[in-house]
Order: sequence, then C-alpha cells, then structure tokens
Amino acid sequence: MNTPGTREVQKITRDDAIKAFRAHFGKEPEIVVRTPGRVNLLGEHTDYSKGFVLPMTISRAVWMAFRACDQNVARLYSADYDEDCSFGVERFSKQDRPDYFAEKDEDGEKRQPIPWFEYIRASVWALSDQGKNCKGFEAVVLGDIPQGVGLASSAALEVSTILALNELGGYNLSKPDMAKLAQRAENEWIGLKSGVMNPMICLIGEPGKVFLVDCGDLKYTSFDMPNTVAVAFMDTGVRHYRNGATYNKRREQCAEICEILGVENLRMTTQEMLEGVRDKIPSSLFSKAYHVLYENMRVQSAASALQYSEFDILGKLISESHFSLQYSYEVSCFELDAICDVARSYPACLGARMAGSCLGGGAIALIYAAKAQDFAEKVLEGYYKQTGKKATITFGQATEGAKAERL
Ligand code: GLA
Repeated sequence: MNTPGTREVQKITRDDAIKAFRAHFGKEPEIVVRTPGRVNLLGEHTDYSKGFVLPMTISRAVWMAFRACDQNVARLYSADYDEDCSFGVERFSKQDRPDYFAEKDEDGEKRQPIPWFEYIRASVWALSDQGKNCKGFEAVVLGDIPQGVGLASSAALEVSTILALNELGGYNLSKPDMAKLAQRAENEWIGLKSGVMNPMICLIGEPGKVFLVDCGDLKYTSFDMPNTVAVAFMDTGVRHYRNGATYNKRREQCAEICEILGVENLRMTTQEMLEGVRDKIPSSLFSKAYHVLYENMRVQSAASALQYSEFDILGKLISESHFSLQYSYEVSCFELDAICDVARSYPACLGARMAGSCLGGGAIALIYAAKAQDFAEKVLEGYYKQTGKKATITFGQATEGAKAERL
C-alpha cells in the first residue's frame, strides 16, 4: 500500500530470487525461501526476560535461493549490494569471527555496520555448533526490509538460512528450535544479546494474524487483525550507532536485578517482590524491572482487547508502553517521542509508541484504516515541523511466515 510521501514498497517475488540465482551461478536453484520481517504491537524488551510479546509479520521480506554444492564452501551473492563472498562451512569456531568484531568503542559498540553475509555465517556456525555440520551451498539473497529500523531484517536473514539448510540437510528442526538457533547466531556470533521474539514470529506468522507469544516456553496463540484498523510503521530516519551497546546494557541490568531478587528472570517478579527492594536498589535499576513487570501485564490486557475487538483499549496500552520505554526503560529518543506525539494528536489515531529496540529507528501507530492516508500526510508534515527531519510511513499487513519451497 502506498501513501503520499511514503516509501514505495518494492515487491520482490519468488521469480526474482530464482532469476538472480540463475544469473549469478548459471544454474537452477533447488530451494527458494521467503522470510517476512515483523512489527511488534506490544511487549518491548520483555522477550529476553522470558516475558510476553504481541508481534505480527509484515509484507516486506528477505528472499533467498539455494543449491547444495560438492565443496565444503558457502558461495554467496547479494543482489541488493551486488557483492559476493565465500567461506568454508566445515566445523568452525567463534575464534574465526573476523576482526571488525573486536574493534569496539569505549561503550563496547561495534564501529562498522555488520556486513550482510555475516548473518548467514552466524547461522551456519549456530547449526554446526549444535552438531549439524552443513554441506557446501550456493545462495543468493535479496530483500526489501529496511535495515536498522526495527523490522527484524537480520532475523529474517538468519531464519532464511537456517530454514534452507534444515531442508537441504534433512535435520527436521521444529520452528521453536530454529528460532532458538537464530537467536544463538545473533547472541554469540553477531554479539547482540537479543531475545527470541524476532526469529519466532518470522517463522510462525500468518496472514492477517497477530500472535501472543510466551517467550518462556514459546507457546503461542493468534488473533485476527481486522482490516478496519491499520498498523502504521513510522520510520524516523534516525539511526543511532550505539544502540547495540545500550541494548546489551539493558540486558545486563535485567540480570543484575534478577540476582538481587533471587529469580531466574524478570518474568518471575511480582509487584510485592519489586516493592520490597525499591529502597535498596538504585532507582535506575528499579525502573527497568518496573517496565518489564508492567509491560508483561499490558501485553496480557492487549491480548484480551484484541480478542474482544476493543481497539481503543489496545491503543491506550500501546501509548502507555511508549511512556514506560521513554521514562522507565530509557530507550527512546527525541525523534521517537516527537513522531509518537504527532501521531497521537491525530483524532483517528488509537495509540502510538516507539517500536525499534532503542535510540532511533521506527515507531508504530494504531489507526482506523479509513483515515490511514490522511494520517500519514499529517504525521509526515507535523514531524518535519517539529524535528526538521523527513520520516517515511508504511502500513503493515501480516503475511505468511517463513517458508522453504523445494523446486
Ligand atoms: C530487538 C531484539 C528483540 C527484542 C526487541 C525489543 O528487536 O532483537 O529480541 O528484544 O529488540 O523488544
């Protein structure tokens, strides 16, 4: 769906992936994989505390075409970057991670963006570390998920790789197992201590559905998202190169509180437990646990609001989540606050909140679908007036989860 002033949605098809493979390798691929990105309606920074999330897939996706090869080598080509790369796929260890991972600034943040092929290598490593020694393969990758805005482009790349190698190797891995492998690839190889939400929703998503996922046992239920309400994704255009360090720091802070409370994860905390330590721990630490505790409750209420089509309640919970992320979890920034304020001031907007991991990227708004076009125009204008920056707005439509097709 295109909206005035919004970015044109590129529509990549399975044929594009097949053609790109043929053009680069001069052969037919054996498998084509499509993995969608995702937006999360509610439950931000709860997944790594084994809490609840409420995500849905989007129409933008990563496409890959694969073929097994005889040598123990992965030969890769990115059609988007027009770049190729190859590496050995025999058992390799974390010591083989390239040097740029060691180049950190004083906050422990990487200096350069991590190249696309590293997510594929990370996934091969995660599989091989679990004893699934991959054979060689050739693959092309292309996609239209914008990077670094909070739409799970890296999870989509990892999931695509794991799904195709699962098919080629006949490993019979379940969706939760594949999601955990993708998380491990990201945590251990890439170095971002992310939770399991992104790979999980990329794998289980369904058209028109929002999922309530319990990140403790990975059980889930789904709800219909009626087409009378739309989810707007508002990209602030702001990227913060230190967001990975802040993210990992939050995870450490959560672990610190768990140690004080004597629990395994923040999911296990109660209001009483937290109140009991309020005066004994720094307020900056208390506020992080406070966010997780109440965000989990908000997700439960939101699931019930979805069930009974109470979209005004869902919208309020979404806005409350933003204020909690802004003031308690402290992961918002000026531009995210500004775009959410502008969105909320629009009468048909039910709620808005930041939606990336932290310090930049995108925000979401829940809006009556009939007003979507006008909403987008007004928000782009209002945001520009407040910040002098140009945003882009697109509308999410939940599509089928990751799928590997044998040709
Ligand atoms: C990133 C991570 C997820 C999740 C969100 C915040 O997207 O990859 O695991 O923690 O941030 O909710």
